[in-house]
Amino acid sequence: MYYPLVRKALFQLDPERAHELTFRQLKRIIGSPFEFLIHQSVATKPVTCMGLSFKNPLGLAAGLDKDGDCIDAFGAMGFGFIEIGTVTPRAQAGNDKPRLFRIVEAEGLINRMGFNNLGVDNLVENVKKAKYGGIIGINIGKNKDTPVEHGKDDYLICMDKIYPHAGYITINISSPNTPGLRTLQYGEALDDLLSAIKNKQSELQQKYQKYVPVAVKIAPDLSEEELIQIADSLIRHNIDGAIATNTTLDKRLVEGLNYCQQAGGLSGRPVQLRSTEIIRQLSQELSGKIPIIGVGGIDSLVSAREKIAAGASLIQIFSGFIYHGPKLIKDIVNHI
Ligand SMILES: Cc1cc2nc3c(=O)[nH]c(=O)nc-3n(C[C@H](O)[C@H](O)[C@H](O)COP(=O)(O)O)c2cc1C
Repeated sequence: MYYPLVRKALFQLDPERAHELTFRQLKRIIGSPFEFLIHQSVATKPVTCMGLSFKNPLGLAAGLDKDGDCIDAFGAMGFGFIEIGTVTPRAQAGNDKPRLFRIVEAEGLINRMGFNNLGVDNLVENVKKAKYGGIIGINIGKNKDTPVEHGKDDYLICMDKIYPHAGYITINISSPNTPGLRTLQYGEALDDLLSAIKNKQSELQQKYQKYVPVAVKIAPDLSEEELIQIADSLIRHNIDGAIATNTTLDKRLVEGLNYCQQAGGLSGRPVQLRSTEIIRQLSQELSGKIPIIGVGGIDSLVSAREKIAAGASLIQIFSGFIYHGPKLIKDIVNHI
């Protein structure tokens, strides 16, 4: 109701400053008498996916709440699931600021945050404190200063620590802002990583007597051939889910607009069609063997339906949420 006003005020500020301010307020509001200000009732639309029961198919995409600081606040707004992270084994500052830009005319964002986060131990403490009853996905990555050849170790360290606390685990190998990370999407490097992750998952399943599904998040910047190989690898390794897509490096989609030349990944409406196309192709290759979580440019009920029609079982939003606020959750969940 009041988001257009809030947005007007926040958009006067530098995007990262607006983010920090919003998180500070959300942390204050949650558990206070003012919680009703962010609370939103949405329809129950249960979906079973990766063996888990989701109360509705719309989730918060990774990267907005990297440390799991505001899980209960996003839960109160009606998300069916919340993906926190990307988190790395050790805290790291991320890239120099400014590193987040609004492309307002296109309802897009460019970011080169670089996995700024307070480390996996801090995130686990936040998950333990959360009261949210929905599913919490935890998205993991490698530290910038871990050489990519040892990147696998960082994923395994994170898995060890988050396993008992995660609804599902996302292996992020598609962020464009950690040098070399995307090379893990290809060939032997991918096979090697997925095989280590599946071994770790079995070991932890034994230890905790609980199966936590593992999803792999991919980029939109893949050729058909590359996508076929990734799909084949996901199937061979019995991966539980695929998340498509992360941000794109293709700036032609915002050519001529303010900030279009900034380095980093582009998200929001400009990536909508590309991401839907990847989901469609991936869905064909996976032929129902592995479910897809669709993300990229969802900004309305129509674009949410397009992702599902293309083959997604669940969907997530990030940029659309920044531009349209909590009402977008209601618009999508109540009518999907
Ligand atoms: C500022 C920003 C930070 C992000 N950080 C992460 C991240 O840490 N891990 C990740 O897997 N995706 C990250 N993403 C990608 C989103 O989760 C999502 O895949 C992408 O933005 C496309 O969705 P959208 O168009 O709804 O924003 C980030 C996106 C933005 C805009």
